[in-house]
Amino acid sequence: MKKEYEVTPYEVKGEVDYEKLIKEFGVERINDKLIERIEKHTGDLNILLKRRVFFAHRDLNWLLDEYEKGNKFFIYTGRASSKGSKVHIGHLMPWIMCKWLQDKFDAEMWFQFPDEEKFLYKPELTLKDTEEATYEDMLDVIALGFNTKKTFFIIDTQHANLLYREACRVAKKITFSTVKSSFGFTESNNIGSIFYTSMQAVLAFLPSVLKGKNIPCVIPLGIDQDPHFRISRDVMPKIGHYKPAIMHNVFLPPLTGMGGKMAASSNKDAAIFTTDSPSEVKRKINKYAFSGGRDTLEEHRKLGGNPDIDISFQYLKMMFEPDDKKLARIETDYRSGKLLSGELKAILIEKINTFLKEHQEKREKAKLIIDKFIFKG
Ligand code: TYM
Repeated sequence: MKKEYEVTPYEVKGEVDYEKLIKEFGVERINDKLIERIEKHTGDLNILLKRRVFFAHRDLNWLLDEYEKGNKFFIYTGRASSKGSKVHIGHLMPWIMCKWLQDKFDAEMWFQFPDEEKFLYKPELTLKDTEEATYEDMLDVIALGFNTKKTFFIIDTQHANLLYREACRVAKKITFSTVKSSFGFTESNNIGSIFYTSMQAVLAFLPSVLKGKNIPCVIPLGIDQDPHFRISRDVMPKIGHYKPAIMHNVFLPPLTGMGGKMAASSNKDAAIFTTDSPSEVKRKINKYAFSGGRDTLEEHRKLGGNPDIDISFQYLKMMFEPDDKKLARIETDYRSGKLLSGELKAILIEKINTFLKEHQEKREKAKLIIDKFIFKG
């Protein structure tokens, strides 16, 4: 039977069924017990955990066991830059989680910029294109406020001397047939793309190699990136390292409707980029944000709207309204018909533009400190 959706690092299609994905990928749901266990250490919960945007995991209980024994962990995530595919607000989800974890657990952050990845996958890209895009994307990461002293950027082509040796050790234990079935590759994929997954694996244990002792690792990521680690986690104990723990977030959907993944490369009007101006944000949301409202004002007042399918409400719930009471009021008013679709959109526009104003100021300032983040090993 053909599936209605597809989730790989290189393609997200159709209406994603997260319940089915949990079973298919063999990950565990983040349940209340685990949330309580995290909160015991952090004192509070960030919105992404509270609202279960981070919904699944691998081995988080092990990570906390180690932490409670005094074995501190480091955090790892990444971003593969590509010309014409700028950072959007969905990309920020795993990075905001990383920043929160860094603050709460005083942890090192290792951030990979695989500038060869999209070069290998997209025929039209040059290495110069991806290098330039990497610079822009680093600004977005820095703007989130990572600790300069504890955050290390690794750029694959610049740090190849550190990565290549370890990537070979991983690559030797992964067959072409595994990569083919996990990523939907065919015989005509280039050989660079076949090797790439071993480059992404390395940072999950590189700090252990550099420090000469095994250090636990946690990787917050969008669930599309899980297949890289599903393959490579099994290899790590075989080469003498811990398997990393993973935390998976659902996708921020595109403006045009629930179920899919906001993506920079498909419909530019369906994504909100971190560099969008206030008027662009307003235009996109007013014109494209899928509404759960009724066709006419009379009908809406009488029957009410549906926040479950309303993109503006969902963005507030997932990212932009951390106050539970305010969110509950918006939901009740929308369901009852008191709050109109245009008014709900106005609330979201205001929230996103406030966030982006600050983000863009920090992004400018980041240009002056970028060098402090690049790993000098
Ligand atoms: P990339 O550049 O495609 O995406 C960066 C991160 O953003 C997540 N993401 C989303 N999350 C929520 N909603 C969305 N609409 C959305 N779109 C993308 C992705 O899942 C990812 O976590 N190969 C990687 C780069 C990488 C990496 C890593 C990622 C290198 N090492 C380690 C995670 C962990 C890539 O192409 O990500």
